[in-house]
Amino acid sequence: MVKAVVAGAGGGIGQPLSLLLKLSPYVTELALYDVVGAPGVATDLSHISTPAVVTGYLPADDGMKKAFLDADIILIPAGIPRKPGMTRDDLFKINAGIVRDLVTAAALYAPKAFLLVISNPVNSTVPIAAEVLKKHGVFDPAKLFGITTLDLVRAETFTARLAGGCPAEYKVPVIGGHSGDTIVPLISKATPAVSFSTEKLEALVKRIQFGGDEVVQAKEGKGSATLSMAHAGFRFAESVLKAVKTGSPVTENAFVYLPGIPGGSELQAAVGVDFFSSTIEIGPSGTTKVLDTLAGITEYEQGLLKVAVEGLKPNIAKGVDFIVSAEAK
Ligand code: NAD
Ligand code: LMR
Repeated sequence: MVKAVVAGAGGGIGQPLSLLLKLSPYVTELALYDVVGAPGVATDLSHISTPAVVTGYLPADDGMKKAFLDADIILIPAGIPRKPGMTRDDLFKINAGIVRDLVTAAALYAPKAFLLVISNPVNSTVPIAAEVLKKHGVFDPAKLFGITTLDLVRAETFTARLAGGCPAEYKVPVIGGHSGDTIVPLISKATPAVSFSTEKLEALVKRIQFGGDEVVQAKEGKGSATLSMAHAGFRFAESVLKAVKTGSPVTENAFVYLPGIPGGSELQAAVGVDFFSSTIEIGPSGTTKVLDTLAGITEYEQGLLKVAVEGLKPNIAKGVDFIVSAEAK
């Protein structure tokens, strides 16, 4: 029995993500939560002839508690998206409090759940989540993930297109964070291997780093990536659920708290930040290992990494401080 929760289920990501979860054979119970619209989305999805039982909740009548209670996996795509001209950090003001409150509910009602944070700015919302969980004495770094899968999805697609291949056959690790130049695509580690001119390589890296802006601009003020994000979020969730169901480890990339995971301290020492997106191995109880993604990276990629780490430091500090300084008051 697996209970999945989508918090922000009425939104642009939440709706297609909930649909994909409803279609998944791994999910038996799907609880949808939002400040608006969740019961309607739940009723709609509940007519689909797959096993998952779907329920929808609003804040009224203890809805958040009912939605989160005893969940196994909680996906959080709640919060405002970008408009053209905004950075992800511009979302902090509103989304920080939303994530804090939703993670507080997770800590209270489903402290053992896998927590998948999609809400931006991921570089800050994941540290917020970690601090909230710590505050409640239930922080398990193996189960907290900032979802950066969309960066890998883009890297696979754009690299394959440039190489003239099929995106489904490509794997491209992307490390660092999830915003602009904190995103570090490791094209040198692409499989199958690719080789591009310097000019093409740099343009490819920029396109991956700023893929989110491409969608924001194309949507002309009506939000950011939703459908590709639902696909990416589901891809990550499905991997986790597969590990739970089969007991066999899966390999994914996510923004995690390095010191809490085997292999993470080594990477933390190498990059100089606590939170970082890297390739990880996930088993039925969460992340078991941070894999070494830095070995053999090119000088160009080392330069990208340096820039990314400088960008990540203030983002992470801002998230931690949001909870820690509020506590000190
Ligand atoms: P949206 O506005 O379409 O949907 C957000 C939903 O969150 C809305 O239905 C809203 O009612 C709900 N919400 C707001 N406050 C809430 C609360 N306190 N509790 C529960 N629900 C609440 O936005 P979207 O396009 O779905 O994007 C959502 C977030 O995901 C944004 O922050 C966006 O930047 C982020 N995002 C992240 C990635 C990634 O790669 N991690 C990719 C795309 C978008
Ligand atoms: C993305 O990468 O598409 C998301 O983080 C949304 C955004 O604001 O770009």
